Amino acid sequence: MHLSSTLAAAVALPLASAQLNQLAQKAGKLYFGTATDTGELTNAEYVSILTNTKEFGQLTPANGMKWQFIEPENGVFNFTEGEIVSNLAAKDKQLLRCHNLVWHSQLAPWVTATTWDKANLTAMLREHVYREASHWRGQCYAWDVVNEGLNEDGTYRSDVFYDTLGDEYFKIAFEEAARADPGAKLYYNDYNIESPGPKSEGAKRIVRLIQDAGLRIDGVGLQSHFIVGETPTIDQQISNMRGFTDLGVDVAITELDIRLQLPADAENLAQQSVDYRTSVGACMQVKRCVGVTVWDFYDPFSWVPGVFAGFGDATLYFDNFTKHPAYNGVVEALTNNTKCKPRPSKMLKRSKPLIV
Ligand code: XIL
Repeated sequence: MHLSSTLAAAVALPLASAQLNQLAQKAGKLYFGTATDTGELTNAEYVSILTNTKEFGQLTPANGMKWQFIEPENGVFNFTEGEIVSNLAAKDKQLLRCHNLVWHSQLAPWVTATTWDKANLTAMLREHVYREASHWRGQCYAWDVVNEGLNEDGTYRSDVFYDTLGDEYFKIAFEEAARADPGAKLYYNDYNIESPGPKSEGAKRIVRLIQDAGLRIDGVGLQSHFIVGETPTIDQQISNMRGFTDLGVDVAITELDIRLQLPADAENLAQQSVDYRTSVGACMQVKRCVGVTVWDFYDPFSWVPGVFAGFGDATLYFDNFTKHPAYNGVVEALTNNTKCKPRPSKMLKRSKPLIV
């Protein structure tokens, strides 16, 4: 696949040296990052890209900090799986997004098997959140404190936490996370909240719930698991992000991948490139969008084929480590917004400068 002349012209640095985190930081973002997982770290070529801080300035453990690893039995804590990625990030001085403290999925089975009342679930939840967040105190740039707490219509998701505690559980989780790690940015993280609509309104309600309780919430994570050709437009993504930042919180794209219907061909790969450019481009246009994380960068390690039948090739690198056209779509988004575009020479001759 070779570059179109328009794309080549839009890229300021030679593509060979254009690397994502470097470009994101140059454009004023904190990081361009990726999720990774422990089983992936034996692949030397993969690891050399993962640990290249010009490419990725931030890591998220895709699984190792989830409840099933952290507290597999009531009161028994085990941080080893999560530490593999947190230690790797520390070694290379990459930022760490810690994921996650409370989620209905990948819970340890004992949590749902127990019959709870308000008092003992509150105590157990406080203990879990405090123990986990304090274990990584000082190491997490951000914590996804609660993950996926909403239904598609914006109402609260029924799970063991909500069914017993109602919306109190959000407050409990954010309160304990703040107590445990005062330096970490505390996020609510979800999918299908990347364009305006009822679910995005639900996420705003959560932000206000925490704020109105006098507690701290610093950001909303937009997972952004998109489908090629169905990605929300840049205007939708920007106005949605602004809906959150208007409440006084940051936003971040936390799990970006854009799956295509297999097989990949020139057409769907070109559309994927446009869709990546659109999504990263939206973050570039919103000052309080702090950074972008892709949900892994190498097709064989993507969660997509295992979960969405018939879909795949959702990341930036093919099986043979060549780059998708979408890599250049990301480069284009990161590069186009670094400076104001030069004014055409005709305009420079005006006696009064145009106010833009
Ligand atoms: C996924 C992981 O990538 C998979 O390895 C695992 O089997 C299931 O979870 N939303 C989230 C992530 O917040 O934690 C999920 O990660 C993907 C969807």
